[in-house]
Amino acid sequence: MANSCFSPHYNCALLTSAAFSLLMITLISGWPTSSAGAESHHEMVAAESDVAARAGLEVMKAGGNAVDAAVATSLVLGVTNAGSCGIGGGGFMLIYWAKSHRFYGLDYRERAPLAATPAMYLRDGKPVEELARSGPLAVAVPGELAGLEAARRRFGTMSFSALAAPAIELARNGFPITPHMAEDIDLTAGKISQDAGFRELYFDDSGAPLKAGAIAHNRKLAALITDLDNNPVGQFYRGKIAHQLVDYMHRRGGVLTLDDLAEYRPVWREPISIGYRGYQVYTMPPPSSGGVVLEILAMLAAGPIDRSPAGSPLYFAELIPLMRQGFIDRADYADPAYVKVPLTRLLSAKHIAEARAIALHHTGGPGITVAHDHGTSNFCVVDREGNVVVVTTTINTIFGAKMTIPELGLILNDEMDDFTVAPGVPNAFKLVQAAANQVAPGKRPLSSMSPIIVMRNGRPVLAAGGSGGPTIISGVVQVVLDELDFHLDPQRAVAQGRVHDQAAPDLVLVESNLPAETSEAISRMGYHVKRVPELGAVNTIAISPDQLQGAFDRRKGGGVAGD
Ligand code: GLY
Repeated sequence: MANSCFSPHYNCALLTSAAFSLLMITLISGWPTSSAGAESHHEMVAAESDVAARAGLEVMKAGGNAVDAAVATSLVLGVTNAGSCGIGGGGFMLIYWAKSHRFYGLDYRERAPLAATPAMYLRDGKPVEELARSGPLAVAVPGELAGLEAARRRFGTMSFSALAAPAIELARNGFPITPHMAEDIDLTAGKISQDAGFRELYFDDSGAPLKAGAIAHNRKLAALITDLDNNPVGQFYRGKIAHQLVDYMHRRGGVLTLDDLAEYRPVWREPISIGYRGYQVYTMPPPSSGGVVLEILAMLAAGPIDRSPAGSPLYFAELIPLMRQGFIDRADYADPAYVKVPLTRLLSAKHIAEARAIALHHTGGPGITVAHDHGTSNFCVVDREGNVVVVTTTINTIFGAKMTIPELGLILNDEMDDFTVAPGVPNAFKLVQAAANQVAPGKRPLSSMSPIIVMRNGRPVLAAGGSGGPTIISGVVQVVLDELDFHLDPQRAVAQGRVHDQAAPDLVLVESNLPAETSEAISRMGYHVKRVPELGAVNTIAISPDQLQGAFDRRKGGGVAGD
């Protein structure tokens, strides 16, 4: 019965609530998962939510493909992992289409409102960073629904309403708060409890934050998604929902207009790639930071293959300066519609050789603490046709702008903080960004999101992506290296302790699950070292002709569902 809900072009609204309940029991019954990895033969979803992974798998079991599954999984994540992503945000989708052996990149990143200006975060001539992080001025034009619908129309086989059914049901009938979501609520309770929408969603009658295992609902979001029917773009970007959103923002002092919503378009972009030690690594172009991941890998490949064990001081001795150099060159990245990003030069053999040489002569400076943030969400999908999809989706920092449209149950992003608020002023991730990434009307902010698909001998062998601001870049690089160079299985690759160095601040973050001797060795190399409980989360699927092996990241929780 559950499968019938997802049959192609079937209108799920026609199903009985008993059928839906059965489906939801199927989706929720395995929570929490007991293993961070899984194997299967035909199709798989690895996500930051077990329920979302299983919703994606159910779509494929009912005949949908990887893009159908990605749409359903994204919408469920927006309910179960609403601190990280949702229809109030945006993302990137990287697709390998098996039949044509082609790659496609979809950019549905949020963009600045048309009334946005570089001066909008200045007060008395001074930058007020908080204005870009919470409240109405932090909110960029959401791209999520436009992107999901563009992907579905081009590659999907099922109706939008069928793919939205699991998210609607979970939002309406309830879903368990995961430990990570409970942590997100706790961390931001002081702020989000000031918003009527958040109070209704995540606090009990006494005003206490919901704990892990409590059943939460978002019935207004369920109604919103139901109203989208099979016209999500018309309804959200031009219909009644657009008016409600804009009216609310206007009343709160925001600058987002009906034109901003009506003019929003996702952009199909040509993915970029480099060769890496016999593999071909594909990712999203700017405004993604996929190119930074490629540059770090290319700098590594320009040297002798590292024979030291994964996670050893010798391995980090080479990796850290190259990672740092990649982040230095990230200053050239921005929205390519506004800035000429010198990608060809940055990924040229000449630049890679020079950058590697410069990087290996490290010098230090003062260190400050990097913000811990687990906003954003990644998942990987492989279907039985061999199609591969990696989606990274975000509302930026935890619970975005800490602002909802209460009557819609809609959580709004704070993606404006991914811009350079003012030259030299670090953002929430302590990234000091360049003028190239300054605010402009309609511009997309530079993102760290870097979905990856790796090919060998013309077939996909690995999918990966991560969440957690700039630690996405370092996390994806390290998991890919652990799998490609050190031949670790996905679960071990994801579990390995990681380091992060984003050049500014001058600091190497070392995860506490790495031995103390490793961080001491890194410190003796001349780095300012700070041990942190954990860095960002990465999930991945290793693909071979007769086997799929997937892993989610225990740092954030999740699930792998396969068949
Ligand atoms: N909002 C996080 C990122 O796009 O990097």
